[in-house]
Amino acid sequence: MTNPLAPASVAPAETPDTVGADSAWILAPQRGFAPEVFAARRARVADALRAAGGGIALIASAPAPVRSRDSEFPYRQDSSFFYLTGFNEPDALLVIDSRGRGSADQPGSTLFCREKDPLRETWEGFHYGPVAARDTFGFDLALPNSARDGHVPDLIVGTAVIAYPLLTHGPLEADVARWLRDARGRRRVTTPGLVLDLARIVEPMRQVKDVHEIARMRTAGRISAQAHIRAMQASRVGIPEYALEAELLYHFRRSGAQFPAYTSIVAGGANACTLHYAAGDYVLRDGDLVLIDAACELDGYASDITRTFPANGRFTGPQRTLYDIVLAANEAAVAATRPGARFDDAHQAALRILTQGMLDTGLLKRDAHGSVEDAIADRAYARFYMHSTGHWLGLDVHDCGDYIDTATPSDSQTEAPKASSDAGKAAPRSTLLQPGMVSTIEPGLYVRRADDVPPEYWDIGIRIEDNAVVTDSGCTLLTRDVPVSADEIEALMRGT
Ligand code: GLY
Ligand code: MN
Ligand code: MN
Repeated sequence: MTNPLAPASVAPAETPDTVGADSAWILAPQRGFAPEVFAARRARVADALRAAGGGIALIASAPAPVRSRDSEFPYRQDSSFFYLTGFNEPDALLVIDSRGRGSADQPGSTLFCREKDPLRETWEGFHYGPVAARDTFGFDLALPNSARDGHVPDLIVGTAVIAYPLLTHGPLEADVARWLRDARGRRRVTTPGLVLDLARIVEPMRQVKDVHEIARMRTAGRISAQAHIRAMQASRVGIPEYALEAELLYHFRRSGAQFPAYTSIVAGGANACTLHYAAGDYVLRDGDLVLIDAACELDGYASDITRTFPANGRFTGPQRTLYDIVLAANEAAVAATRPGARFDDAHQAALRILTQGMLDTGLLKRDAHGSVEDAIADRAYARFYMHSTGHWLGLDVHDCGDYIDTATPSDSQTEAPKASSDAGKAAPRSTLLQPGMVSTIEPGLYVRRADDVPPEYWDIGIRIEDNAVVTDSGCTLLTRDVPVSADEIEALMRGT
């Protein structure tokens, strides 16, 4: 058995992501990245530790959660641990030492992992053990877990700073407390006086993706887009939502993706108005729309696509009216996603189009809500559009990364502070977009039946979600291998 996230021997960019003309849609993704990619990330953490005065950083692998009794869920590594190691086993700990010199005597990186155990491997499959882990992943030193208590306090002694993920990894925090007590108990040594949250170092790094990550996300987006095409082609009146979910999952796995990136939403008819609806038993009816929000995780990286289409292949007039409003909002948000713009600009651009559409269709009454500006100011739109237009995407589907820019001072364009206690303080500004950031763009409209809503729009839920990488001049969408215009969707479903 091979580790699906083991480092590759060649860089991913050099590797084609399809194999064989006869199976062109079976993608054969490169798995992990070359060890140098992870080593460079660890070096950046060491730089940050040096800048803070010198010290060590500790990060643990994710636990292997139990599904029932002695059955476990499929293992999924902690995203930041994976980002720094490429190592995909539980029971592992990485220590980065800013004093390291890249040798086993003075290691900059030390991995603690499971000892090689042939009997255990008979049941659970291959695991590396320290020797192969060091050689394969390029750590300076790798030791069995039994060496942790003896070794980590030695690393702690003499450092100014200790960094680990605060308040998210309980067992590691208990271990760190014990190791710190051990180090402090020694005579005439210095121990860290400063504790840093490692998330504050690693998460800004993760927020800007490198070429390796973008290549992988592009492949994840392509697989997910093809899965949506497959589901559209399989759709017909009389089949249950779970049958379309099966088409998606089949395609993800057949294409080499390890997991769905999140629980698949396949929502027929009024179910689409429930934002976190999961595929269920509802049987598609003539005249229903189907909203599918589903995508794969490939080699640790998420994609996140939503398409909405008619179960029978033909939009009704009112469905198409609302669909075209959402698509225009998606396009406006795409146009607002470029370097130098702010994260929130895409949301504001989409919101204007959606709110204008609500007024044009009578979902919002002009006599009650006035202009677009008024309807936005009093949040009247929120009845039909209650979520924001995007989120960061990466190793996590709702990826890490700040939404508020703490580095740039606010200016006079900023919204006025709302509470009087905030008077004199500038409101925070949304994050400035830079090349390599990846966000979703996912406007929607959700119209539940109600006496004050035109009946032709009842029970319609529409969302159109794409994944955008910020480039030097704008953004590139990773998810447009599946059609997005109503005409193209109808043509695909007709088979023309
Ligand atoms: N699929 C989760 C989301 O769109 O945020
Ligand atoms: Mn989604
Ligand atoms: Mn999303």
